[in-house]
Amino acid sequence: MDSCYYKDFPALGAFEGELGYTSNPLAYLDNAATTHKPSIVLQTVEGYYRECNANPYRGTYRTSVASTQLYEGSRSIVAHFIGADADEIVFTRNATESLNLVAYSYALDTLAPGDEIVLPISEHHSNLVVWQHVCEKTGAKLVYMRPDENGRLRDEEIEQKITGAAKIVACAHVSNVLGSVFPIEKIVEKAHSVGAVVVLDCAQSAAHLPLDLSALDVDFAAFSGHKLYAPMGIGVLFAKRELLGQMKPFLFGGEMIDEVREYRSTFENGPKRFEAGTPNVAGALGLATAIDYVQRIGFDEIGRVERQLATHLLDGMRAIDSVRIIGNPYATLDRTGVVAFTVDGAHPQDIALVLDGENIAIRTGSHCAQPLHRSLGLESSCRVSPCFYNTTAEIDRFLDTIESVRRTISRRIMAVFP
Ligand code: ALA
Repeated sequence: MDSCYYKDFPALGAFEGELGYTSNPLAYLDNAATTHKPSIVLQTVEGYYRECNANPYRGTYRTSVASTQLYEGSRSIVAHFIGADADEIVFTRNATESLNLVAYSYALDTLAPGDEIVLPISEHHSNLVVWQHVCEKTGAKLVYMRPDENGRLRDEEIEQKITGAAKIVACAHVSNVLGSVFPIEKIVEKAHSVGAVVVLDCAQSAAHLPLDLSALDVDFAAFSGHKLYAPMGIGVLFAKRELLGQMKPFLFGGEMIDEVREYRSTFENGPKRFEAGTPNVAGALGLATAIDYVQRIGFDEIGRVERQLATHLLDGMRAIDSVRIIGNPYATLDRTGVVAFTVDGAHPQDIALVLDGENIAIRTGSHCAQPLHRSLGLESSCRVSPCFYNTTAEIDRFLDTIESVRRTISRRIMAVFP
């Protein structure tokens, strides 16, 4: 039976007809790009600005102290959520900024010519372009691991590509195109055996899988709040305490300093060293609230609903002639419901426009993963990405629309080649 979690999300209230849509409500199936926000998150953010709104750390008056407490309390909630300690959590704007922080404050000072940065070809640009920049600056080299035709990173590929020259292995936990859950335990084991650090991009996993970074033993990890039902503009970098302690600041300014003299300054230790300027307190609080919301539902339940939706989606897509699923076409435990696809005879942009005409939102393009698309001989694809607040009825509307596109194309082909 379908869940009714969409009721917690006011932007999806159209499903109930509140916004006047009764026959064609929004089916939001682009959750890999960003998720909607539950009422509790929206209320918390608004409540912070209505009732508190003071610069943290800087004032001795009560709302400033409250702001500091809310911000630091949010850091502890984030840390607990991913199996880390609060002094290993840096707030950033998003996963991209977190990965840039690792590149600028760790990699640029650590890598040298001949060193290698190893990553899957499927990485999205945030976890790829920044490493190209590091290679350009340091003389290090990028080495790509290539997933097989089912979107899996095989042990042999991991063994072969992560060699003694590897200093950094950067990898998504879940691919934003293939939907694959990569074998992080295996990657960490191999990377550490050759002395490389592991940078895990959890942008596509944090909302869908339980994360225990200390059990995974990754060295760095990044994710964005907005893909985890929190506001845009807040992100997280996890860094092991000893690594964070070695890293130089990336951004300079207020509150990251210890003492400022006319010609030189000393800096804070720990996360604050990397949080220059007034922080996004409302965003951090929104993220902590979203985490609390997710934890109250629980990953067992989220996993159950999302597996059911993924199975329904993939079964339906496999049954439509001319739909080509990119990656594993079956719902398995190492695959999420993120499904990229093409339809023979139709441009992905046209498919997305037809779906939009039915008020069904999906993503089209390269999904910030051009090297993967090129390696598959594609310029672009469509991507559908349900999450636990979606329903099988929405998946059915999506499948029916794709089937009608297929029928239209077949009729056109028959008219030209009867
Ligand atoms: N990386 C995001 C996506 O996959 C924006 O859509």
